[in-house]
Amino acid sequence: MSTHRVLPISPDILGFAEIIAPQGEIDGKPKPSEPHLYQTYRMKRLSTPWSVCLTRAEQLSDCRLGKGILLDPACGSGSQLFAYCSGLERAGLGIELDADSAVLSAANGQIVADSGSNSEWTSESFVLVGDGTDATAALAEIGLSGRAVAVMHVDPARPLDTQNHSLDEMEPPISTLLNRWAEHFVIGSRGPAIIIDLSPRLLETQQREIEVLLLSYWPDSPITWEWVSTGRGRIDRLTIWFGAAAESATPARMLRLLSDGSVVSFAGRATEVKRTTSATPSTGDWLTIVDSALLASGLQGQWLREALPAESTRHWVRISGRRPMLLSSEPLQMEKSLVGAFVSSTGQVISRLKVEPTVENIPPILVSANAAYLSRLTLRCKMEPSAQPKIQGKLDHGLKDYPRGKPGFLADVETNGGHAWFICKEP
Ligand SMILES: C[S@@+](CC[C@H](N)C(=O)[O-])C[C@H]1O[C@@H](n2cnc3c(N)ncnc32)[C@H](O)[C@@H]1O
Repeated sequence: MSTHRVLPISPDILGFAEIIAPQGEIDGKPKPSEPHLYQTYRMKRLSTPWSVCLTRAEQLSDCRLGKGILLDPACGSGSQLFAYCSGLERAGLGIELDADSAVLSAANGQIVADSGSNSEWTSESFVLVGDGTDATAALAEIGLSGRAVAVMHVDPARPLDTQNHSLDEMEPPISTLLNRWAEHFVIGSRGPAIIIDLSPRLLETQQREIEVLLLSYWPDSPITWEWVSTGRGRIDRLTIWFGAAAESATPARMLRLLSDGSVVSFAGRATEVKRTTSATPSTGDWLTIVDSALLASGLQGQWLREALPAESTRHWVRISGRRPMLLSSEPLQMEKSLVGAFVSSTGQVISRLKVEPTVENIPPILVSANAAYLSRLTLRCKMEPSAQPKIQGKLDHGLKDYPRGKPGFLADVETNGGHAWFICKEP
């Protein structure tokens, strides 16, 4: 049986953390609303943003959990674990293989406690240096045994090209973690509470593999898949919430983190999205580029119900890549925060280009943009990366005399008649 070094959460640990990674050396000043956590460059790359940590702590506090500790067996910076501890006012156990990270994590526990209104949880919270899969030994180090764990959250380190790797190449491997910790979970009527962060690039077959693995232990437990986006055109996080941590009758949930730290979320049943190959935009229609995470979550149906009036037509004219696109006869109800949060560009179709957007074809494009009183025309279409800045530069130069117009964008759509480009004017 291996042993773990036990680090209590106390002010004494702060001095050690300061030697390993002086505060502010990496990230300068934190946002005023966030605790100033210790980190190394490696931890900064791996750690969960504080706004995500807090949102999850709120979500978890809505779940019916049994008595017991909160466990993160690969806790890294500890930010997620201690956001839970502080939000739920419960003791936590973090385990981290890397000794320096473990010290910083324990210090972060103290910092989170100092920044919150209640720090009683710290007296029974610990970070252990060692192997997070060694369940029985870890619990024994802090005087616990049996079914002592109310929630396990784990964010395993994963290979960068996850799709080409098996799930067991995550560190620590999920199958080993479940195998070793299963007997220590508190089991309620919905099963244990387990939250696992996975690669956003996980294939659907790999998602099913995780489900099958969890259900092989607790067959009747519910599952909620959660997609998180920060609106950068890709999915930032994919997480499975299992058993007591899952949301009732909610197989899928979508979270969009806004730059001010607030979160827009909605949930429901995922449906398959289909591309309408026959739809071609006409003048007066609306083209909208949406967050790719929305389609990945399968929750586009619920979103559309909020986004468009019932009388509007709606066709997904592109469903893959970073710029999924919707074609509708009516404008989107952008005043609703749930709608706007998932839109990267929306505009009314003004005209269809008769020529391909190339450097040589700038003059006729400018004629169309001028006729629409556009102040800017942003390229939102696929093109040679080397040509893009040249064409954008010439468009910017050509439209600089019309600053009072509305901005627009140039979108491309694969139609039955081939590739086509449309000038769209923003509302
Ligand atoms: C993706 S990071 C976790 C990041 C964390 N969620 C945060 O916000 O900082 C994964 C961590 O697991 C640790 N790790 C890998 N294998 C482990 C094991 N067998 N036991 C404990 N920790 C392990 C790594 O050192 C790394 O710090």
